[in-house]
Amino acid sequence: MANKRMQNVDHLRFVAYSDATNLNARIAFWQLYGESRDAAFSSFFDRLESDGDTPETADILDIGCGPAHYWEWGLDHIRIPATWTATLTDISQGMLDEAKNNLSKFTRVFTFDIADVCDLKYEDESFDIVTANYMLYHASSQDKALSEISRVLKPGGRLYAKTNSGHHIVEFLDLQRKFIAGESQAQNIGVAHEAFTLENGEAMIKPHFSSVETIRDDSICKATDAQIVIDYANSMDAQLDQQGLEAEVREQITQNGHFKVTRSSGMFVAQK
Ligand SMILES: C[S@@+](CC[C@H](N)C(=O)[O-])C[C@H]1O[C@@H](n2cnc3c(N)ncnc32)[C@H](O)[C@@H]1O
Repeated sequence: MANKRMQNVDHLRFVAYSDATNLNARIAFWQLYGESRDAAFSSFFDRLESDGDTPETADILDIGCGPAHYWEWGLDHIRIPATWTATLTDISQGMLDEAKNNLSKFTRVFTFDIADVCDLKYEDESFDIVTANYMLYHASSQDKALSEISRVLKPGGRLYAKTNSGHHIVEFLDLQRKFIAGESQAQNIGVAHEAFTLENGEAMIKPHFSSVETIRDDSICKATDAQIVIDYANSMDAQLDQQGLEAEVREQITQNGHFKVTRSSGMFVAQK
């Protein structure tokens, strides 16, 4: 089931990601019950560092940077060499403002730009690395987005793109189906990542890159705080019947001791 609004630039810019509220509700859930921020961010920088041919003076483009949590963590933990330059971009001005604010405590200077992944304004072959985490599924065309990313990468440059598998958070999809608030909301049922998953993404990347590797990371999360589960369900794009949603989540926690959520994520590493 696809929710087309999650590839609509205006909806993403002015509703879903007008600021970090929805994203923060999901981060709060994963921080408690999924992969911790420390684990997620350190393994990401480990991988960048272990790709030995990453140049010492790397120019990096982050697309769909959101509130720049990767960069904030990376600077806090001294994982971003002083010789790397970074251009942080997002389609939403609200997100870019949060990114700037989160990085304002550091002396390190970054470039911030509004940019749509399908229409990058950068010259051909300008970057050593492009990062595009949890965002390629929002592109209005994945083929155009990947062709743009490949165009702005130098020969041999790498794309690091985290995304989810088709099995990720199936339980939240079930809650949407069960508690959708009326017929008019039915078209908004769906998970954002369907358009670019760990399963369908490789075939989309291959035409634009010389190699692609898929890294997978799965776990079952057992959530015990009903409100955090409810907040996550409400951070998705469909309006839900709150009474039904609350009753169901609390009932499952009472019966099973937890609300079960499937986490199935990973990363593509592609080389031009
Ligand atoms: C799920 S958030 C991920 C944020 C960040 N990359 C992370 O992993 O923490 C998706 C981000 O992509 C941005 N976005 C959505 N569509 C975009 C597009 N077409 N071009 C650039 N950014 C986009 C959103 O505004 C949002 O900040």
